[in-house]
Amino acid sequence: MFYSAQVLTILGLSVVQVMGIIDPSLAKTPQMGWNSWNKYQCNVNETVIVNTANAMVSSGLKDLGYQYINIDDCWALHQRDNSTQRIIPDPEKFPNGIKGVADKVHALGLKLGIYSDAGTNTCAGYPGSYGYEQIDAQAFSDWGVDYLKYDNCNNLGLAGNASISSKRYKRMGDALKNVSRPIFFSLCSWGQDDVWDWGRSVGGQSWRMSGDISDHWSSVVSIIGQEVPIANISAPGGWNDMDMLEVGVYDQMTITEYTSHFSIWAAMKSPMILGNDITNMTSDIKNIITNKEVIAVSQDLLGESVKQRWVKGDTQLFAGPLSGQTYVALFLNEGNSTVTMTGTWSDIFNNKHANKQKPIAVRDLWTHTDLGKFRGSVSVSVEAHGVRMLRFSQQA
Ligand SMILES: *[C@@H]1O[C@H](CO)[C@@H](O)[C@H](O)[C@H]1NC(C)=O
Ligand SMILES: *[C@@H]1O[C@H](CO)[C@@H](O)[C@H](O)[C@H]1NC(C)=O
Ligand SMILES: *[C@@H]1O[C@H](CO)[C@@H](O)[C@H](O)[C@H]1NC(C)=O
Ligand SMILES: *[C@@H]1O[C@H](CO)[C@@H](O)[C@H](O)[C@H]1NC(C)=O
Ligand SMILES: *[C@@H]1O[C@H](CO)[C@@H](O)[C@H](O)[C@H]1NC(C)=O
Ligand SMILES: *[C@@H]1O[C@H](CO)[C@@H](O)[C@H](O)[C@H]1NC(C)=O
Ligand SMILES: *[C@@H]1O[C@H](CO)[C@@H](O)[C@H](O)[C@H]1NC(C)=O
Repeated sequence: MFYSAQVLTILGLSVVQVMGIIDPSLAKTPQMGWNSWNKYQCNVNETVIVNTANAMVSSGLKDLGYQYINIDDCWALHQRDNSTQRIIPDPEKFPNGIKGVADKVHALGLKLGIYSDAGTNTCAGYPGSYGYEQIDAQAFSDWGVDYLKYDNCNNLGLAGNASISSKRYKRMGDALKNVSRPIFFSLCSWGQDDVWDWGRSVGGQSWRMSGDISDHWSSVVSIIGQEVPIANISAPGGWNDMDMLEVGVYDQMTITEYTSHFSIWAAMKSPMILGNDITNMTSDIKNIITNKEVIAVSQDLLGESVKQRWVKGDTQLFAGPLSGQTYVALFLNEGNSTVTMTGTWSDIFNNKHANKQKPIAVRDLWTHTDLGKFRGSVSVSVEAHGVRMLRFSQQA
């Protein structure tokens, strides 16, 4: 299915729409975009969404691959339409409806995301989709929605094991397969009931593997720790979602910490969903989220997460393959002072590397410099809460 969708995309055919299935080619690489929650919470409206979409284009972010503009909770009225049973967009916040916003976002070459919940109500108390899955999927499709973030609040206690939770999410996965518009299905199930084992089978293309992130280094460290043992689950078609990026949201992390956060999310193939005000960014923040070489790691078509190779005190080495016989390694220092870290070729290439004798070219993806050719190992200085992100290629 994945293969045929790829081939058809190359031919420029829109077979997916004809077949009415969830399109696996939507998730060939982790999704990139923006979501309203971290910055605006419930204070979202058409102005915020359209201004953000315009900034996505004018700042150059769109050209780097960021494409989804996602409306989070609080877009609706508290009651469904009594005759159609559809959710009603709040006319004060969205005077042109969701369709009106979608048209404006699409005109900029971007895609629109929306939010609902696998329960009776959303987390902020607006209508949830449980029991209304087909009605809501049809409305989203009719409005031109391209992406659904599907939360887990007010779920009637239908949780506790994989079989119960997966049935609740599958109801929406099936409904989305039964509408003509391809809609990316993003499960926001907080890592409950080992969602990484069943997210793909209910039609999910990404699934939250942890509780909510916050704009603090301790939150980033905690989520990395939870992702390490399940990093092998992510693959083209479905990704562990380490939650939205906090880079530049409330400035509660240092630039070094934000750089580490962005690097690890890219190398672990988490979705890259920005949350900062992209209409008004400092150059430090913009430099992080526009790093082409790091984004290329995120979007590499092999789609394999880096794996933890070792932990020594407060330092960890992560590495993994990219396409084209190149590798990426992350030297992470969670400690409070600068350290020198060494990665040997057997650490980095996991003993799978054919030509140990050949010199390996090493490039630093944050300084954008070639560090030279190395044999056997490489050592780097890593500042407190920092990373060094290096790419290795064998071309002599
Ligand atoms: C839209 O939301 C923003 C941010 O919450 C607010 O500043 C602005 O006044 C709102 N605009 C309208 C037209 O409601
Ligand atoms: C739906 O019907 C109820 C009860 O008659 C009424 O209170 C409510 O305002 C109606 N809601 C809408 C959105 O029309
Ligand atoms: C899940 O929980 C339900 C209800 O308690 C139970 O009937 C079912 O056997 C459980 N399934 C698994 C796989 O544990
Ligand atoms: C598919 O959608 C149609 C139209 O909304 C509906 O009548 C039908 O029951 C749906 N099929 C399934 C399997 O939900
Ligand atoms: C991931 O790794 C775990 C533990 O090593 C293993 O049990 C599981 O089968 C692996 N899953 C995949 C999809 O490779
Ligand atoms: C832009 O951000 C700066 C802080 O970085 C703030 O002082 C300024 O008020 C913001 N401008 C607007 C238009 O939001
Ligand atoms: C780093 O410093 C912070 C704040 O002083 C402290 O809470 C933390 O335990 C230290 N971390 C390590 C790894 O020493």
